Amino acid sequence: MKILVIGSGGREHALVWKIRQSPLVTRLFASPGNAGIAELAECLDITPDNIEGLAQFAEKEKIDLTVVGPEVPLCKGIVDLFTERRLRIFGPSREAAQLEGSKVFCKNLLRRYGIPTPSFRVFNQSRQAVTYVRSATYPIVIKADGLAAGKGVVICHTEDEAVQAIEHMMDRKEFGPAGEQILVEEHINGIEASVMSLTDGRSIATIELTQDHKRVYDGDRGPNTGGMGAYSPAPIISDRDYQRVIKEVLVPTVHAMNHERRRFKGVLYAGIMFTKSGPKVLEFNARFGDPECQPLMMRLKSDLVPLMLATIDERLDKLGEPTIEWDPRAAVCVVIASGGYPGRFEVGYPIEGVDEAAKMKDVVLFHAGTQRRDGKLVTSAGRVLGVGALGTTLQEAQARAYAAVKTINFTGMHFRTDIAAKAFK
Ligand SMILES: Nc1ncnc2c1ncn2[C@@H]1O[C@H](COP(=O)(O)OP(=O)(O)O)[C@@H](O)[C@H]1O
Ligand SMILES: [Mg+2]
Repeated sequence: MKILVIGSGGREHALVWKIRQSPLVTRLFASPGNAGIAELAECLDITPDNIEGLAQFAEKEKIDLTVVGPEVPLCKGIVDLFTERRLRIFGPSREAAQLEGSKVFCKNLLRRYGIPTPSFRVFNQSRQAVTYVRSATYPIVIKADGLAAGKGVVICHTEDEAVQAIEHMMDRKEFGPAGEQILVEEHINGIEASVMSLTDGRSIATIELTQDHKRVYDGDRGPNTGGMGAYSPAPIISDRDYQRVIKEVLVPTVHAMNHERRRFKGVLYAGIMFTKSGPKVLEFNARFGDPECQPLMMRLKSDLVPLMLATIDERLDKLGEPTIEWDPRAAVCVVIASGGYPGRFEVGYPIEGVDEAAKMKDVVLFHAGTQRRDGKLVTSAGRVLGVGALGTTLQEAQARAYAAVKTINFTGMHFRTDIAAKAFK
């Protein structure tokens, strides 16, 4: 089979790394990819938002399966476009991807179907939103409706912060049309985890639990990032709580989407807060998380390609039990970022030590923002590399990952030193 993976981050490197191992693959393409992906796949120069360009390439090359990494092409309708042209593609349709693409749609759906989520109000005029937050109890959470690359959520501790967030989103239109509507949401406390699943709209195959680390500094301090590291499994969530998410969140959401005539096929990712009164949905994503995908692909024993084909064909239930097989070992992925990220940073710095790290036992290097310039590996984005490692225990995987991180060097690099430490508490 000829397979095309869309995207250029660590998540896509992990997908390409896993798909490359499938005996079903004859040729593997990635668009646009990065320096690490280029060692495993033929990279194209079509950006993920150019869905027409991607469809033309897939038609011309007779691609048998296209895998979409990021959310932007999904929300733009890449799956609908490919499907119209009889091209097989893994991911939800545009209407189904609204579960991620519009937080207002998502919250209204959750409310309508009685799926647990923090209480909220929707506003499409800043004046009304400001009036509301002036009499609210704090903290409170303000969210832009649309896609904002992980920057559209502000946790406000004071009235001033809330008013400022509203002005940023609605008056100054910092996120463009994504901020035309906003949510003002109840702030809840608990343990957060990513509960991903594979669904074809008829049944659900569970994916092992992961935990992401959104904040830039150790101890979950500092501003939010795209994600500074992840690990799997996540033993801090009990099996009982996990089963509750399946029963109270995933199953009813899949049913709700069918009922709304927006059948969801692909990776259904629930961002869950496990609170004293049970699990609550913070948001849904319509694809694998980045960096959660990296430890997951290291632990995935099943061939990913048949799983994706079965999802597209709505025959996940025919694959036998267990639908997805996992390596019982633990995996940890530590992200190494450019100096200054998630704020301003510079790119083009030479990266050293990658080959040495990649040779270490049970270590895999996932490239994110890397490029080859005159044969040399250089930095090209905020998140540069993900260092993944397996171990019999999470402690062992963590130690291995950090041993590999030590060999890598570039100007200004920074990383968290406590990825997976939450699991040991
Ligand atoms: N209601 C809430 N209460 C407490 N924390 C929240 C709430 N909503 C979101 N958060 C925090 O903000 C982060 C980002 O919010 P999320 O809805 O996942 O948006 P996105 O991933 O699109 O930026 C979450 O991972 C969580 O840590
Ligand atoms: Mg999120």
